[in-house]
Amino acid sequence: MLLELFITLLLIHSQVLGDTSSSEEDENVSNEHEDDHKKSSSHSDHWDYHNQRSWLSAFTDCGGKSQSPIDIVTREVTYDPRLPAIKLDGYDLSGHPELTLQNNGHTLQLQLPNTMRIVKGFDQVYLAAQLHFHWGNTEVPGSEHTIDNVHFPAEIHVVHYNSKYASIKEAASKPDGLAVLGAFIGIGLHENENYEKILSVIKDVSTEESDTKITSFNVRHLLPDSLEKFYRYTGSLTTPPCYQSVNWTMFNDTITVSRKQLAALEETLKAGHNQRLSQNFRTPQNLYGRQVLASFLTSHTANAGGSSETNTFSRTRATGTQDGLTRGDILAIAFGVLFALTLLFFSMYAYRQRQKHSKSNPDSRQNVIYKPATKEDV
Ligand SMILES: *[C@@H]1O[C@H](CO)[C@@H](O)[C@H](O)[C@H]1NC(C)=O
Ligand SMILES: *[C@@H]1O[C@H](CO)[C@@H](O)[C@H](O)[C@H]1NC(C)=O
Ligand SMILES: *[C@@H]1O[C@H](CO)[C@@H](O)[C@H](O)[C@H]1NC(C)=O
Ligand SMILES: [Zn+2]
Repeated sequence: MLLELFITLLLIHSQVLGDTSSSEEDENVSNEHEDDHKKSSSHSDHWDYHNQRSWLSAFTDCGGKSQSPIDIVTREVTYDPRLPAIKLDGYDLSGHPELTLQNNGHTLQLQLPNTMRIVKGFDQVYLAAQLHFHWGNTEVPGSEHTIDNVHFPAEIHVVHYNSKYASIKEAASKPDGLAVLGAFIGIGLHENENYEKILSVIKDVSTEESDTKITSFNVRHLLPDSLEKFYRYTGSLTTPPCYQSVNWTMFNDTITVSRKQLAALEETLKAGHNQRLSQNFRTPQNLYGRQVLASFLTSHTANAGGSSETNTFSRTRATGTQDGLTRGDILAIAFGVLFALTLLFFSMYAYRQRQKHSKSNPDSRQNVIYKPATKEDV
């Protein structure tokens, strides 16, 4: 039995070690698929998505340690119940003057009036400036942020600036300058009427640096139904000059548009040199120890449905992370204690058996050794 215990202990420990090393390898996967085309654009303020590594030679912030986007690892986010709920105001623009929609060569952008505001959720009120999109093509999903290394087809960013600054231009480089609300866009069965307000006129801005006017509408409807669950982290603009001035919010609830609507976004716009404007997403950036907070319990932290063994393991792991102990350490200690207790129990048992027999039959010490198991021993 002792041998069995020992073997179990060894097996479990090596399993845990194997697990740990494979998750360490996973950390760098996101850096590997960076586009590295032969093009080496050395112009100072001209940039494109083909050669993202070259951004940092002209824009030093792009090589900083608080860059965006990031991969959100759901089992590593920190649940923070004190994150204040987000409250928007003035997002319903129906009846307001027309809005300007623009193809700026990097994205499709809608100018927003600063009467649209985030009134609760941050230390200050943040005023809207513009919203825009990131997308891929029919083969490549093009969200900027990823969830557990998975891209969504597209992503919307609503950019706001701190009301203590006079303009977005002034705020953009300040540490508390910007708040971006982001959401993932997936494919659904039905046409999204709200997105159609923008996508129905996308042909009018197919050439680079063109713009058009569109009828105002309720911009709240471009965001997910629920704004309750979100991730929060400190990051940057995802395009040059990559200022590290953004308090990021990525919503857990997602938006869906029809396949046809997504195709319109992916296939209509042209960038410079008459090239198609697509795959305008930046590779996820290294976290460098930044914490990603969540306003909600992810399925991993909650873990309500798992077997009791799985629950014990993940609880042990969570505690272990805080105390600087790994799951392997804790298991080793637990099995060590169990091993010691078993040993103690056996020696006590043997000692008492010996005493019992020496009392009842002081001359038959040898008999104890050869005594076959009786009912008491079972
Ligand atoms: C992961 O990337 C970081 C920074 O890019 C590097 O320091 C580290 O050695 C890499 N780790 C592995 C396991 O490749
Ligand atoms: C981001 O917003 C949260 C919530 O208001 C706040 O606690 C945090 O300090 C902000 N971070 C930065 C870098 O401004
Ligand atoms: C939303 O949260 C659930 C539960 O944790 C998770 O499984 C899912 O991947 C999340 N989706 C996004 C887009 O964050
Ligand atoms: Zn963006």
